Amino acid sequence: MDYLKVTPNHLPHIALIQLNRPKELNALNLQLMGELRDALRSLDADTDVRVIVLTGNERAFAAGADIKEMAGRTAIDMFNVDQFTTWDTIKKTKKPIIAAVSGFALGGGCELAMLCDMIIASESAQFGQPEIKIGTMPGAGGTQRLTRAVGKQWAMEMVLTGQFMSAEKAYQAGLVNRVVPVELYLQEALKLAQQIAQMSPIAVKLAKESVLQAFNSHLDEGLAFERKNFYLTFASNDQKEGMTAFVEKRAPRFEGK
Ligand code: HXC
Repeated sequence: MDYLKVTPNHLPHIALIQLNRPKELNALNLQLMGELRDALRSLDADTDVRVIVLTGNERAFAAGADIKEMAGRTAIDMFNVDQFTTWDTIKKTKKPIIAAVSGFALGGGCELAMLCDMIIASESAQFGQPEIKIGTMPGAGGTQRLTRAVGKQWAMEMVLTGQFMSAEKAYQAGLVNRVVPVELYLQEALKLAQQIAQMSPIAVKLAKESVLQAFNSHLDEGLAFERKNFYLTFASNDQKEGMTAFVEKRAPRFEGK
């Protein structure tokens, strides 16, 4: 892995992925995205890992897709390269991914953060979809996920002017879970990961899948989907353990079975 640092057991049950192309502000070239896809696939299959934290560095989470790599491409080159298959695979990760964002999260970087399930931001984080300034537009979900997160007015302004959104505004608008001082953002994301890692990993995956379903279906379909996943948790030992532990007034021990 040239552009990632992956630590499957950063903390018990918690994997850490760090985007590691600092000189280019973690610009997401095809190789980096391929490595990220492979890392997530492998962590998703690792039964010891329950939650994944994705981060960059203090200056940049990621400043977007690699403009230098894309600049000369034709539409047919872009079509043939088919980079979004990689993004689609990342989207299929079943375990929760928490983005720990500091500095720039722009273009594909903002889209990658939004593809994660939760975002912890440092006070210096800046979110933006500045593609319009280089003659193009968001292509990895920016017009869709940003609009759902912050509403049409803000999304429209950001997408049409390229204006950045501060961490504080992103919090007010509902784009991030919380904003903490720069020295604490990774720690805070790991803390959230630890909370989730204590739960049944089966229930966590089914619950993540159900929340995401809310974006793809009408209410009745979503409710039916949720109900099936709810029933499915009753096929796990973890559900029996969780409810028995409650009745016995002790802490549950979830094993992911
Ligand atoms: C390639 C990038 C890059 C990018 C920064 N760099 N962003 N290289 N692709 N997206 C490189 C710069 O060229 C420079 O390298 C180095 O990183 C440091 O950047 P500077 O510009 O010198 O830093 P600064 O003056 O602090 O400005 C930071 C910045 C600016 C505001 C983030 O770099 C910027 O505007 N970057 C582009 C942001 C952007 O437009 N993102 C959207 C990309 S399109 P050198 O070697 O030149 O000094 C996109 C489409 C997604 O994401 C579609 C789906 C995947």
